[in-house]
Amino acid sequence: MNNKRSSQWFQSSGYYGFARRAWLRSEGFPADIFEGKPVVGICNSWSEFNNCNAHLREVAEAVKRGVLAAGGVPLEFPTISLGEMFMAPTTMMFRNLMAMDVEESIRANPMDAVVLLCGCDKTTPAQLMGAASADIPAIVVPGGPMLAGQWRGQRLGSGTDGRKLFDQYRTGRLTDEEWCEIEGCIARTTGHCTVMGTASTMTSLAEALGMSLPGCANIPAPDSRRLAIAELSGRMAVEMIEAGRIPSRIMTREAFENAITVLMALGGSTNAVVHLIAMAGRLNIKLTLDDFDRISRRTAYIANVKPSGEYLMEDFFYAGGLPAAMNRITPLLHADCETVNGKTIGENISSARTVNDAVIRTLEQPLYAEGGIAVLYGNLAPDGALIKQTAASAELMNHRGPAYVFENRDEMLARIDSDDLPVDRNTVLVMRNCGPKGAPGFPEWGHIPMPRKLLNQGVPDMVRLSDARMSGVSYGTVVLHVAPESAIGGPLAVVRTGDEIVLDVAARKIEIAIPVEEIERRLGQFVAPKRHYDRGYGRLFLDHVTQANLGCDFDFLSPGYV
Ligand code: FES
Repeated sequence: MNNKRSSQWFQSSGYYGFARRAWLRSEGFPADIFEGKPVVGICNSWSEFNNCNAHLREVAEAVKRGVLAAGGVPLEFPTISLGEMFMAPTTMMFRNLMAMDVEESIRANPMDAVVLLCGCDKTTPAQLMGAASADIPAIVVPGGPMLAGQWRGQRLGSGTDGRKLFDQYRTGRLTDEEWCEIEGCIARTTGHCTVMGTASTMTSLAEALGMSLPGCANIPAPDSRRLAIAELSGRMAVEMIEAGRIPSRIMTREAFENAITVLMALGGSTNAVVHLIAMAGRLNIKLTLDDFDRISRRTAYIANVKPSGEYLMEDFFYAGGLPAAMNRITPLLHADCETVNGKTIGENISSARTVNDAVIRTLEQPLYAEGGIAVLYGNLAPDGALIKQTAASAELMNHRGPAYVFENRDEMLARIDSDDLPVDRNTVLVMRNCGPKGAPGFPEWGHIPMPRKLLNQGVPDMVRLSDARMSGVSYGTVVLHVAPESAIGGPLAVVRTGDEIVLDVAARKIEIAIPVEEIERRLGQFVAPKRHYDRGYGRLFLDHVTQANLGCDFDFLSPGYV
């Protein structure tokens, strides 16, 4: 009997030790498999309902080669997967369910370490939340971004360019035939979206946290180096067992501050704010929106990748990728944080070099003086709201205009393209009942489409405001994550069409220009909308999900919850 966790299953005396060995041997393993070898679980979020992760079985085979080469036993297991394009009402509704699945699958099964195979937006934070709570050695291997789309000489970034081209299609500037061609080539390989959307952001942040091998996050999915680093990660998982390199040792407060710094330098997704707060919460580390804003103010945006910039993830990888970008912001990082390979993050990035300064800028010549995300407060968002300032229009960053209110998304969809919609370029579109409880599930509805009549007038952007999230691939002057949400009586619930809205990003302000007494009078008349679920997982979600500023985890999954 040795002291490995898996030994408690396979080397226990009596009937159950025998039975577990016998049952596993039914999969074709020889008797010496039980001679104290470490067991490495491979947590696979593969699914054909998730195209971004549909190649992860091949990645798992490469991980297995590495585990075997290092003397371990690889055992692959499935969890639910979260395909961003397919799940209704939204994958965010199920991030916590997947995190629970990952945590309990790790906890319940005989493994000494786990390799986490992820990619599409929510799969990375869900796996890291679960692994943090289980707290056995864990290493992340994402599937990598897809290659750039190609259409009639244009390079297309899935997500970002799709939305831009859709505006052209719905205003008659693209034909049905052209639109169908684009459909066939905008997402042409395996892998997740190829802009700095939520998937690329979260896989990059996993590496910035120290939870992936250096250089792992950005290798394109079809590139042979993806499988090579998967194999090396399998080997490393075995080494991590002996070294006791568990998530709570790697994902420290300083490591999370590194991740926030990288988020800001990359112009990464606003969704990362919710996910990082939730991941840190699993380790009893309290991140606040103020941490994000403080770090944003001191971190320049340097990664020239869509949706904030011009290039695609493929270009970012060729320019040196995350290690090169982190090397450029070394003075802003806690360089001594430990990572999965036993080296510090500073050691991992010290020799990384940028080979294309147009894609990865320097701190001295950034694309934007601050980080990608700003945190706003005010009488409309007492607990905070976010704006992706690097993807917003400069002329709208200080704006005052009348609200036009949609009660919910259905109303917005029914009205947005009406020729008689009473809006102009100064109007602030407001949409409510799109938050964690109100939508439900906190969907990516915040990128309210531009009204067709304004697109036809050549107006490309306007201020939009909601308690929803926004896809990481989206852009525009969009204020999101308003907390508390309207469905639980946040002030967004009482905005009326015609009220003046004030947005001042430099002052970090989002306000409604009416007296406080009037806001309180209206809030006194607030009637909560009908709950969406009275049973099942939906009810669990509504009863326990926290607000956006707290990470939207379930309250009972925090350490020490009573
Ligand atoms: Fe999966 Fe974009 S749809 S990453």
